[in-house]
Amino acid sequence: MKVVIDIGGSIFASPINVDYIKRFSEFLIELNREGYKLMVVVGGGKKAKEYISTARALGGEPDFLDEIGIAITRVNAMLLIAALGDRANSWVPTRLEDASPGERILVMGGTRPGQTTDTVAAELASRHGAELLLVASNVDGVYTRDPRIDPEARFIPELSTKELLDLASERGHEPGFRGVIDPKAAKIIHASKIKTAFVNGADIENMEKAVKGMDFKGTLVTPGG
Ligand code: UTP
Repeated sequence: MKVVIDIGGSIFASPINVDYIKRFSEFLIELNREGYKLMVVVGGGKKAKEYISTARALGGEPDFLDEIGIAITRVNAMLLIAALGDRANSWVPTRLEDASPGERILVMGGTRPGQTTDTVAAELASRHGAELLLVASNVDGVYTRDPRIDPEARFIPELSTKELLDLASERGHEPGFRGVIDPKAAKIIHASKIKTAFVNGADIENMEKAVKGMDFKGTLVTPGG
């Protein structure tokens, strides 16, 4: 079974959480041993936001700000590769064309401006026919609004890919911004009918349940209108 994991940089690199990276890598190695083909896309977290806002203040153009974010996602991917050793690719692929799942766990970051790593993860899932896209962030799942900002936000346990697309489309892309999911990623998820689970990446046992099709805490997105 092919699984793509989109892990937000805020989970393990803001500040860098060595213990978490170790536990997450052990989880990936165990799944890999059990036969899962894994593709992991690592986000930029607070570090990306800090670099992007600094470069913006210095007058950087939007595409250039995105390139800075991409660089940070790749550095974060390298931390995970350091923990996985020869279980992963030894260098971070910069293009989708150079990234495919095999015996090793594929680990990468961003690819091009105008999107986030959510899109890279959705593209990988679509290209390689993944049975599941697991989106892990520091939020428990999908809410009507950002629960970190809005106390009125309501949790949504289940929704269709079309409903996800409608939620994501309420806002466009801005360097360093994360809504529920990047709208480009939501389009791919809907068009390619990708089953998607949103979970809090801090709870690794819960992520395992989501991967293995058991009841999990989070939001399940199923293909449909
Ligand atoms: P992230 O994927 O981490 O963005 O990329 P995010 O979703 O806002 O942050 P997390 O998931 O909470 O950590 C960081 C930034 O890098 C640029 C964008 O500016 C993005 O906001 N980026 C990333 C790209 O331009 N292209 C990519 O393929 C990936």
